[in-house]
Amino acid sequence: MRLCFLVEEHYRHDGMPIEVIRQLTSWGHQVDVLRPGGSLLRMTEAVRAGTHDAWVLKTVSGGPGLTLLEAAASAGMTTVNDARSIRGVRDKALAAAIGRSRGLPLPPTYAAARPELLAEIPSSEYPLVVKPADGSSGRAVYLVSSPDRLAAMVPELAREGMLIAQPYVANPGIDVKVYCVGGELYATERCSPLHPDRAVQERRVPLSAEVAAIVAQVGAVYGLDLYGVDVVLGPDGPVVVDVNDFPSFRQVPDAAARVARAVLGLARTGQASGAATLTPRPHPAHPAPAPVQVPAAAGESA
Ligand SMILES: Nc1ncnc2c1ncn2[C@@H]1O[C@H](COP(=O)(O)OP(=O)(O)OP(=O)(O)O)[C@@H](O)[C@H]1O
Ligand SMILES: [Mg+2]
Repeated sequence: MRLCFLVEEHYRHDGMPIEVIRQLTSWGHQVDVLRPGGSLLRMTEAVRAGTHDAWVLKTVSGGPGLTLLEAAASAGMTTVNDARSIRGVRDKALAAAIGRSRGLPLPPTYAAARPELLAEIPSSEYPLVVKPADGSSGRAVYLVSSPDRLAAMVPELAREGMLIAQPYVANPGIDVKVYCVGGELYATERCSPLHPDRAVQERRVPLSAEVAAIVAQVGAVYGLDLYGVDVVLGPDGPVVVDVNDFPSFRQVPDAAARVARAVLGLARTGQASGAATLTPRPHPAHPAPAPVQVPAAAGESA
């Protein structure tokens, strides 16, 4: 297989996706690496139909890789994940609108281009969680207790671009993070950045049927193949607070090999799930999703 990986500067020395590239190369696949943040992009030359079986991107907030991935998709190439699906989750405001309209358990969500506009949110919605619409790694995620507190935070929030605000979902302070790779789900728990006092190291935990069903539905709704979902256990059940395309897959056993096999499977079939908001992918009434069987080529059994 011939693959093109777009490696954002942020991940140049990171385990993921570099280890996936190493794994694919060791299996004899050709992997071309483009560094969209570190090179002049010859946009009209970089993407030509038929050059690769798939283009792969692990996104970073505001990174230039998504522009190239979208160019590859528009030239008819398979992309991992589907480029439109990535757009659907990178913007947390858009993700909330899509998810709620498709019946996912997400908090009601407001979006505002300027923080002072959040003052219109009724006081009955407090406490609020306010965070950047393109945020990641817990950057600038705030628990805001009252409209007065919000007013005091306006200068600080003004630096963060488009913001979203949601009622805080009461929870024990432990996030359930679920990773999906090759159709299989792996759950971990870690301390919520809003509850640093819990001091829990991220570790594997059993996955409940209820959360598994929600996470499988997330994949179907957004059209993602490789993804992660952050869930908090609220008083009325699990609530999805974040969806990430191509997460770290931390704590997933043999993550690099699993992700590499999943990429090959998608490249072989020539289609990532994609654009599920336009073409809904059916999902069963599941306790857990059936694992996707990816045929292993010689030497891919790591
Ligand atoms: N509406 C909410 N109610 C309760 N807790 C929330 C809510 N929104 C976010 N949180 C908490 O804040 C954390 C960070 O939010 P979110 O995942 O959206 O930000 P992020 O920048 O993507 O962070 P990370 O990269 O660590 O996942 C969540 O994992 C959850 O613990
Ligand atoms: Mg998150």
